[in-house]
Amino acid sequence: MSVQDSNPRHVAIIMDGNGRWAKKRHLPRAMGHQKGGEAVRRAVKACSKYGIECLTLYAFSSENWKRGEEEVGDLMNLMKKFIGSDLEDFIANGIRLRILGDYTAFEPEIVALLEDALERTKAGKQTLAVALNYGSQQEIARAARLAADQGEISPETIAANLYTADLPPLDLLIRTSGEIRLSNFLLWQSAYAEMYFTEVLWPDFGEQDLKLALDEFARRERRFGGR
Ligand code: IPE
Ligand code: IPE
Ligand code: MG
Repeated sequence: MSVQDSNPRHVAIIMDGNGRWAKKRHLPRAMGHQKGGEAVRRAVKACSKYGIECLTLYAFSSENWKRGEEEVGDLMNLMKKFIGSDLEDFIANGIRLRILGDYTAFEPEIVALLEDALERTKAGKQTLAVALNYGSQQEIARAARLAADQGEISPETIAANLYTADLPPLDLLIRTSGEIRLSNFLLWQSAYAEMYFTEVLWPDFGEQDLKLALDEFARRERRFGGR
């Protein structure tokens, strides 16, 4: 198998451990999230470098509203700042932004910023899909409802109505921070994805950590039920 063949087209990351990163340093959780934003920037660059067509990042789950106003507010402010500081770079580097999840539940200012970013990055060749107010069970229920409205419920028609319908099949799912669970992320899409769990906390995750995951992926034998 050539290096090219063994490279995943679509990598998704559950970016976990910001809070523990901050706690270890006696810093506020918001600082962990801020450092997590820097790790996002590194991951996007590294994926471009390794020619990965699509990177999907779990940024805010439909269950993360439980965290309370202050932390949710910090995350929203961080998102606004991130779009402000990085949108031009994304456009310049051919990154197409996609959103998975019902982002219209966010405050109007953020919805407007996100929609502007979607519009201005749409010519990009590499995809950065960000899961925002995303829950996989909700996504599957919604897709099944849409498929039923269209007259047929089957694996194909459900898949065609998921937020990920036009993205490449998920090859590699990474979770940082040592937790071994999916936390309502890409349940359908993970059917035959390779899973990779690392103890590294998200704010510490860098190009070398991604490389380790890609090397491990290249060693896996995928069978998709065949032999
Ligand atoms: C992940 O880090 C970021 C989000 C869920 C938004 P956490 O905030 O979950 O960090 P831990 O799990 O508490 O360390
Ligand atoms: C998953 O992490 C959500 C994101 C990374 C955005 P959580 O920290 O919310 O997951 P649990 O609560 O540990 O399962
Ligand atoms: Mg967590």
